[in-house]
Amino acid sequence: MKAMLMKEFGGPDALSYEEIDTPAVGPDDVLVEVHAVSINRTFDIYLRENTYAYTPDLPHILGVDPSGVIVEVGEKVTDRKVGDRVFCSLFVPTTRSNPYMAIPGLGPVDFLGVTIWGGNAQYVRTVASRTVPIPNNLTFHEATVIGRHLGTAVNQVENVLGVSGDDMVLVMGATGGLGAACIQVAKWAGATVIAAAGSDDRVEATLGLGADYGINYRSQDLTEEVLKLTDGKGVTGVCDSVADPATFNQVIHSMARGATLVTAGNASGTADVPLSVRRLYLYMLKIVGEPREAPGGLEEAFVRAGKGGVKVLIDQVMPLSQAADAHRRVESREGTGKVVLDPTLD
Ligand SMILES: NC(=O)c1ccc[n+]([C@@H]2O[C@H](COP(=O)([O-])OP(=O)(O)OC[C@H]3O[C@@H](n4cnc5c(N)ncnc54)[C@H](OP(=O)(O)O)[C@@H]3O)[C@@H](O)[C@H]2O)c1
Repeated sequence: MKAMLMKEFGGPDALSYEEIDTPAVGPDDVLVEVHAVSINRTFDIYLRENTYAYTPDLPHILGVDPSGVIVEVGEKVTDRKVGDRVFCSLFVPTTRSNPYMAIPGLGPVDFLGVTIWGGNAQYVRTVASRTVPIPNNLTFHEATVIGRHLGTAVNQVENVLGVSGDDMVLVMGATGGLGAACIQVAKWAGATVIAAAGSDDRVEATLGLGADYGINYRSQDLTEEVLKLTDGKGVTGVCDSVADPATFNQVIHSMARGATLVTAGNASGTADVPLSVRRLYLYMLKIVGEPREAPGGLEEAFVRAGKGGVKVLIDQVMPLSQAADAHRRVESREGTGKVVLDPTLD
């Protein structure tokens, strides 16, 4: 099969489009012909640069969220068949003695595309039980973005923030994969959503996702704008997985008394941000880390998406052979929405 191999760490040219052996399936596995896999800043760009928290063995194949068609099933697999359209979960149960992480409901796991080879290839092998059927109303490209982000967004907005119709929620990096999903989950719960992004185009795009108000945090004073929109009270919930040192304290000062901020990451690439501890304790604020789906959350995300109405922002779809250009596009931060690779376009 054709695969995009990462043979060294470095810039986009560290990726090399090569012919390699197609993986053999084990008894519990399926082999999936990949039709879509997205570029994620942390798991693709930072992993390629070797600035992520985990260093993979080389050569490595990136790609954490492949969608495609099952072309082979292992001998013990009974609930998947050749021809099924599936999304492959990031979390793959492992029996390795030094697993990367344990996930509630799954136990020790490998991360597809991070600790084991992922979906930047014509075919990807994974455990059948970690594939989820894609509803007919979704394209593979949409399924990849939904599978990657919606389950985490539901967990953050519904389970951590516990959002209801009385809430006003601020979403930072609101056209990012996670931010775009958080806007929609908060709207389903009836909340008023203030979406914040770094360009006027991107702010405009958030309104198309259902946000009630948009703020450009590069050209406007974020705190001042949020306080104007909330009658001086501040928002009751925040989704901020950007962690930009330039905006983090502005976010903290935009929060109402007792409000909660939930984070899954630091898309800014900066691990440490300034924090007004005085504001934190005087306003009894909470900051919660939650980067995961709830148990069963991925399956639930596809059930909801199957009912229609989930919007996905896609910047570009590119052939797998152009992965280096796709990485450059994501690094440029010029587009709005996800960059998706489709190996069937090669
Ligand atoms: N399922 C999930 O989605 C999930 C799960 C676990 C962890 N995470 C983590 O959550 C974070 C957000 O994920 P994501 O997929 O939404 O990321 P993303 O698509 O790259 O979006 C992040 C947003 O951050 C903003 N941003 C501000 N400063 C930035 C900078 N210096 N560099 C890059 N972006 C910057 C960008 O918006 P503007 O350009 O408009 O400012 C961008 O739209 C990542 O760290 C990811 O690893 C996500």
